[in-house]
Amino acid sequence: MFDIQRHKATCMILISAVLFVWQFYLVKQSYIIDNTLSVAEKFPTEAQTHLNSTEIKGKKANTNEMVGSIANPIALKTNQERYELMAKYEQERLSDVAPTFKRILFWNEAYGNKEYGIGFGRDALRKWDCPVWQCETLENRTDMQDYDAVVFHLRTWTRYDLPQRRSPHQRYVAWLMESAAWREYLDTSPMANYFNWTMTYRWDSDMVGPYGYVKPIGNAPIHPNKSQMKEYLSNSKVNYADGKTKMATWFVSNCKSKSKRNELVKELQKHINVDVYGGCGTMNCPRNKEDNCREMAAKTYKFYMSLENSLCQDYITEKFFAMLDYRILPIVYGVHDHYDKIAPSHSFINAAKFENMKQLADYLILLDKNDTLYNEYFWWKPHFEVRYTQKDKNKSMCHLCAALHNTTLPTKIYRDMTDWWENQSNCVSSPPIS
Ligand SMILES: *[C@@H]1O[C@H](CO)[C@@H](O)[C@H](O)[C@H]1NC(C)=O
Ligand SMILES: *[C@@H]1O[C@H](CO)[C@@H](O)[C@H](O)[C@H]1NC(C)=O
Ligand SMILES: *[C@@H]1O[C@H](CO)[C@@H](O)[C@H](O)[C@H]1NC(C)=O
Ligand SMILES: *[C@@H]1O[C@H](CO)[C@@H](O)[C@H](O)[C@H]1NC(C)=O
Ligand SMILES: *[C@@H]1O[C@H](CO)[C@@H](O)[C@H](O)[C@H]1NC(C)=O
Ligand SMILES: *[C@@H]1O[C@H](CO)[C@@H](O)[C@H](O)[C@H]1NC(C)=O
Ligand SMILES: *[C@@H]1O[C@H](CO)[C@@H](O)[C@H](O)[C@H]1NC(C)=O
Ligand SMILES: *[C@@H]1O[C@H](CO)[C@@H](O)[C@H](O)[C@H]1NC(C)=O
Repeated sequence: MFDIQRHKATCMILISAVLFVWQFYLVKQSYIIDNTLSVAEKFPTEAQTHLNSTEIKGKKANTNEMVGSIANPIALKTNQERYELMAKYEQERLSDVAPTFKRILFWNEAYGNKEYGIGFGRDALRKWDCPVWQCETLENRTDMQDYDAVVFHLRTWTRYDLPQRRSPHQRYVAWLMESAAWREYLDTSPMANYFNWTMTYRWDSDMVGPYGYVKPIGNAPIHPNKSQMKEYLSNSKVNYADGKTKMATWFVSNCKSKSKRNELVKELQKHINVDVYGGCGTMNCPRNKEDNCREMAAKTYKFYMSLENSLCQDYITEKFFAMLDYRILPIVYGVHDHYDKIAPSHSFINAAKFENMKQLADYLILLDKNDTLYNEYFWWKPHFEVRYTQKDKNKSMCHLCAALHNTTLPTKIYRDMTDWWENQSNCVSSPPIS
């Protein structure tokens, strides 16, 4: 692995050089208008950048300070594949009529305990409605040979505290819900040839634990074509702007980020009012009443800043999915194409597609003044359901149990965790915000 410490000087020169070239690239960017929607016809400054995903991947490969190189980004599953996968997790069945319990060991600490969002015992998975629940979860490190799976939280994984003996039938599972951008907390280089399965938010994990996804409840396509869209937009009956008195809000507790989200909001605040709640802001809404706060936001504000702490493929958290579920319009900062894939067309605003925050602000002001335009962003509400609860995340554990009972699954080894986690997570640093 590339040793940052040793090559610090070289690194700094390289980064400066890349940033220098990058400025010229920015100037050269051309913008096109997305005219598939009536709104764009009325307001040509909703400029969609010409940057399609291929170009973004290529471009970021040069500017990326966090991961070195991104040449082989994972193939994003389509939204249909995503909810079908979750539906599959819900429908898994045991082939064995009298199964023995499989044993799962939670090896190290994850957020203050070893419960991994599930808890211990023979009832842990049954309690959470897992279709295959015949697994016992434990934290007892004795009798290691009796375990079928050992789950490791990657953030606290260390080579100095690992099981002494390992049986070939056992599955070592890498568990992590944070993005790959926090590289300083996680050294993957000693993890080569160690793990059999992965359990993360990424959709190419063996056990996918998504922060959320969008499920169709009717026949409406998630990405309607132009004529279909016209139909849907004109069918909107509810006024989602009703009673709202304020522009935009953001709830944030962690002021650190790798996505320049603080800079983005600061820049936007020069043009419109953005109320910031929580640790990095001036307003307060109790964290233990999350749903009440979301409800309050959706009643009062037109827009919600759904900004992630890092920019990595598939890393879209409840910051987006929860607010999408409410009657408020999420503003994202998406430099990957994952939002376009997972969410219905015209259900959010992507700040990265505007030339600068002034343009974004102008566009928000336009929507604020015209309820018809604002309401068009909610066309999809009667046709889709947003899933984002803990239950959906717990499904990855259900799937682990089912997989342990599945005798036909082949041997699998993650030969290069650095490639899989750091490289293929496709984390990028934000372009400059203006
Ligand atoms: C995306 O970018 C690539 C590389 O510049 C280009 O060849 C391709 O035509 C673009 N695709 C779309 C849909 O714009
Ligand atoms: C076992 O896994 C295979 C491969 O994913 C799958 O096709 C099969 O349906 C699974 N069997 C059971 C009983 O779930
Ligand atoms: C762990 O397992 C061993 C052997 O089964 C048992 O003696 C011990 O009491 C267990 N420890 C805990 C904390 O449950
Ligand atoms: C849009 O999709 C519908 C249904 O699939 C189809 O009948 C129609 O021809 C399509 N329209 C355009 C403009 O592609
Ligand atoms: C709002 O936008 C709609 C759709 O573009 C347009 O028909 C209407 O005239 C606008 N209303 C106002 C008050 O500008
Ligand atoms: C998932 O697991 C967590 C942690 O044990 C629990 O608090 C939560 O209620 C579960 N979710 C559901 C709805 O199954
Ligand atoms: C799990 O990984 C280990 C280490 O690479 C390997 O020896 C073993 O065969 C794998 N087991 C399964 C069941 O995949
Ligand atoms: C990242 O992926 C590319 C393409 O697969 C590969 O050439 C490169 O060596 C990988 N980098 C690391 C750090 O594994």
